[in-house]
Amino acid sequence: MGYNVYVAQRIPDESIRLLEAECETVEVNPHDRPLTRAEFLKAIRGRDGLLCLLTETVDEEALDAAVGVRGIANYAVGFNNIDVAACTRRGIPVSNTPGVLTDTTADLAWALMFAVARRVVEGDRMVREGRFTGWGPLMILGTDITGKTLGIVGGGRIGRATAARAAAFSMKTLYYSRQRHPEIEAVGAQYRLLDDLLRESDYVSIHVPLNKETIHLISARELALMKPGAFLINTARGPVVDEKALVAALREGRIAGAGLDVFEREPELEPGLADLENVVLLPHVGSATVETRIKMGNMAATNLLAMIRGEEAPNCINPEWKNFRK
Ligand code: DGY
Repeated sequence: MGYNVYVAQRIPDESIRLLEAECETVEVNPHDRPLTRAEFLKAIRGRDGLLCLLTETVDEEALDAAVGVRGIANYAVGFNNIDVAACTRRGIPVSNTPGVLTDTTADLAWALMFAVARRVVEGDRMVREGRFTGWGPLMILGTDITGKTLGIVGGGRIGRATAARAAAFSMKTLYYSRQRHPEIEAVGAQYRLLDDLLRESDYVSIHVPLNKETIHLISARELALMKPGAFLINTARGPVVDEKALVAALREGRIAGAGLDVFEREPELEPGLADLENVVLLPHVGSATVETRIKMGNMAATNLLAMIRGEEAPNCINPEWKNFRK
C-alpha cells in the first residue's frame, strides 16, 4: 500500500478500480486527449508506477523525470514508444498487453480489406449525399476477395489470426517473416521471401512490430513489386510503410488501393493521402472494442501492480531488468 501511480490517458473504469484497490494514489490524465510532452514529464515525477500508451514516448528524458519509478506498463502490445533498453539499464521492468487484442485487430484488418476492395465508404457517401438514383450494373464496382491471394507480412499472433480467417474466403495465403513460424503455417500460410510475396499477392496485410529493421520495410521499391490490382492493408505501425511512396503509388494507380489504420506521423496525415478515393483511413482503432479495451486495461493494471510490488509482471518484456536492479 501507499503506492502512487500515474495513468497517462483515461482507460476503462474497471481497470482503474483494480489499481485503486492497491494504491493510495491513482492519478489519471484529466484531459480527453494525450498529454503534451511538458505535461507528461511533469505528471510522472515521483510515481511508483506508470501506465502509459503509445501516445507517450518513454525515453531517457522521461526516465530522468520519473526517477524512482518501479515499473512501466504499456497499454498496447506494441512498445516502440518505449526505450526498453534504457529502462533495462536503469533496472526498470516494462510490460505490454499481448494476446488480448489479437482477434480484434485481425478482424479490423479484414474490415479494411473489405472496405477498400468493395468500396464501402464510397458507397455510403453516395447514398447519404443523395447520389444513389437507382441500381446500375456498373455502379461502384469493387474487387473480389474470395479465391484471391493474401500475403501476410509478419508471422506473429495477429498475422496468424488474420491468415486463419482467409480460409473462410477460399484464399491462398502466404506469409513473410525473418524466420519460419510453424503456427502460421499450421493455418495454411505458405512461406515466401518478401519480394515474392509482394509479387504474388492480391492483398498484402502488414503485421510486424515497428523497430529498426521494419521502418520503411514497404517503400517505393516494394510497392513497385506489387500487382497493379493489389491492395495494401496496414493495422500495425505507420512507419513500416513509406507514406510518401504510398501516396505516389496510389495516385499513379500503381496499386489499386490501401486500407490504413496507422500513419507514419500519427495523427498527422501525409499530404495528398486524404484526397485519394482508393484509400480507407481509420484513426488507429485496431484494438478498439469495449471488450478488448477492458481486457487490455486489466492486463496493464495487473502488470503494473506486480511490478510495483517487486514481483515479476506476467507480461514483462525485459526480464533482464533484474540484472540491473538498484
Ligand atoms: C497496440 O496494442 O500496439 C495497438 O496499436 C494499440 O492497441
